Amino acid sequence: MSFIELKNIYKKYPGADKNSVSDVSLNIEEKEFIAFVGPSGCGKSTTLRMIAGFEDITAGELYIDGQKMNEVAPKDRGIAMVFQNYALYPHMTVEKNISYGLKNMKVPADEIKKKVDWAIKVLGLEEYRRRKPKNLSGGQRQRVALGRAIVKDTKLFLMDEPLSNLDAKLRVSMRNEISKLHRQIGSTTIYVTHDQIEAMTMADRIVIMKDGIVQQVGKPMDLYKHPANKFVAGFIGSPQMNFYNVTVSGNVVTFEDGSKITLPESITSKLGRQGEFILGIRGEDIKLDAQNIDIFKADKQSAVVENVEVMGNENNLYFTFGGASSVARVSKYEVSEIGDEIEFVLNPMRMHFFDKDTELCCI
Ligand SMILES: Nc1ncnc2c1ncn2[C@@H]1O[C@H](COP(=O)(O)OP(=O)(O)OP(=O)(O)O)[C@@H](O)[C@H]1O
Ligand SMILES: [Mg+2]
Repeated sequence: MSFIELKNIYKKYPGADKNSVSDVSLNIEEKEFIAFVGPSGCGKSTTLRMIAGFEDITAGELYIDGQKMNEVAPKDRGIAMVFQNYALYPHMTVEKNISYGLKNMKVPADEIKKKVDWAIKVLGLEEYRRRKPKNLSGGQRQRVALGRAIVKDTKLFLMDEPLSNLDAKLRVSMRNEISKLHRQIGSTTIYVTHDQIEAMTMADRIVIMKDGIVQQVGKPMDLYKHPANKFVAGFIGSPQMNFYNVTVSGNVVTFEDGSKITLPESITSKLGRQGEFILGIRGEDIKLDAQNIDIFKADKQSAVVENVEVMGNENNLYFTFGGASSVARVSKYEVSEIGDEIEFVLNPMRMHFFDKDTELCCI
């Protein structure tokens, strides 16, 4: 039995006309770091709150450590939760904020001291321990909120967008700190975010949701390389994967604007049928360099650059191709200017084909 098991979990809020979470089944192993990711309103927080016990489960079963939890009160589920809006007590110092929950739980004073000292050290808050929240930076406050959770003896951390009100730079450093902390403490963690980069960089496995339904569960690179459907393909990865409406006939792909590309036999045989598809290709698999252009020269394409995002380490070139706006990710050495005509090839080995109706991945 897995450490956490969700079996066909549903949530319908009172008065709502549809389910907010539908038929979620998921096994989570001890010490795993799991990210729930998906667009706003897809049911991430609702699922997390059902695991925590803050929301009733409409249908289905939840097990933690072999015990059915549906009717168990949140305080008896052995969890610690970090919310997006982690209200710290403004009149209490850092150490008081961290110890407050333990005092309420009637933990002996010497044990509280040991735990708080440990948390303060792990979180690098030594020099701030007697400061009040208003005299801390956002990242330091966030660490205090984490401190309150990690001092509790718990095998399961639930975090709901804990970094969403930090600026971009702090988010990156806190992302690293939470990952480090997880390696150090080893507690099973479920982390909710709408930021696919957080999910990709932090999680052992990602659960990607849309409209209350789990779309795919897997390791970050498995989702990146083998998305189960067009939604996952578009959600994971930045800039977004390019999508084209195409027709496959024999080994020729025809795009909406009449552009044609020849597919290798290995792809057409895997595809198994002809007709209409959605072709997906990531920006980094549209190649402008001489070597790749030489390899795929029979299918060389051209377009005019409409916009350039200079990222420092690389550039994103925007242009129209195949009847759709497209983006190629190129190295910083391949600079193009707006208005330049570029030549490029699409690496056929990196193409994804989705069914036009179901949007499920075909290969
Ligand atoms: N208390 C509630 N009563 C009724 N409907 C709710 C309630 N809480 C959430 N919902 C609805 O359930 C759906 C899922 O909401 P949820 O908060 O789980 O989304 P989320 O994925 O966490 O989104 P976000 O990224 O915006 O936090 C939404 O359509 C939302 O409007
Ligand atoms: Mg939410």
